[in-house]
Amino acid sequence: MLHFPVLLEESVDFLVNKKEGNYIDCTYGRGGHTQKILETISSKSKLTSFDKDSDAIEHANNIQNTNFKIIQDSFSNINKYFSKDSVDGILYDLGTCSTHFDDASRGFSFRHNGPLDMRFDTKKGKPLADWINKATENDIKEVLYKYGDEKHAKLISRNIVEYRNQNTLDSTLQLAKLIQDIYPDKKNKIHPATKSFQAFRIHLNDELTELSNSLIHAKSLLKKNGIVVVISFHSLEDNIVKNFFKAEIKNYPKDIPINNEEFKEFECIAKKVRPSAKEIELNNRSRSAIMRVFKKL
Ligand SMILES: C[S@@+](CC[C@H](N)C(=O)[O-])C[C@H]1O[C@@H](n2cnc3c(N)ncnc32)[C@H](O)[C@@H]1O
Repeated sequence: MLHFPVLLEESVDFLVNKKEGNYIDCTYGRGGHTQKILETISSKSKLTSFDKDSDAIEHANNIQNTNFKIIQDSFSNINKYFSKDSVDGILYDLGTCSTHFDDASRGFSFRHNGPLDMRFDTKKGKPLADWINKATENDIKEVLYKYGDEKHAKLISRNIVEYRNQNTLDSTLQLAKLIQDIYPDKKNKIHPATKSFQAFRIHLNDELTELSNSLIHAKSLLKKNGIVVVISFHSLEDNIVKNFFKAEIKNYPKDIPINNEEFKEFECIAKKVRPSAKEIELNNRSRSAIMRVFKKL
């Protein structure tokens, strides 16, 4: 699968509002946004990119640019590397990379057989197989409802637990088949395991908590007029972003009139930006992307 950075021009245009500055790309992936930022900023600027994934880090290590640094860590730890009011722009391009699906050994794909892993950082935590072979039926159901909006969560979780009584679940195709076999709406356009795989991935990598924690740090690391750009692929992520900044914008003391600018910390400068029809045609994955941009006041 070809890897296309989503909303590339649009996101970097918003992010770099000062050619000379200190920038963070929270999600290096295969460096599409990182490269574009490096092309846009001046030679006196700095860009630090993060990724949890060792393959992404290996890719980034090929970049020869003294203004660039790659760090293998979660973006929920950005506060460990920067001080308050020191950053001009922070970018998030959330979720998985197309490269995760290409490499069956990572366990993200329901089309290619591989171990049930799904960790972004394979050096930390335990693979999905560990959780899915031990979790209660109710826990599995909750994850499917909460992170996959899977209406057949009950049926799928029951089937997983029944299968588990006789076998160990350790491969992606085993899990995909288990879901496909009992899935009632077989005429769906998407593969029956799509939502379940997404839900398990979000749960295993604790994606929503990491995003919420990172936004809290982003808020304090940004300088005045600093920009935060977030590209989400899921309504749960987008709601976190929207509500976080809504709270920041509306967090006025009750007795102060709502139009009092003194208490406004962030301004929304772009909401619900979607990829163009041309981009979606080129890269189908971009169809669910939503970008929001905020400026610190
Ligand atoms: C959609 S891809 C980014 C693509 C990238 N913008 C590009 O142009 O190539 C998302 C990346 O974020 C990484 N990631 C996901 N959650 C993370 C986290 N909490 N901390 C750091 N990296 C994370 C994944 O490993 C993946 O490589």
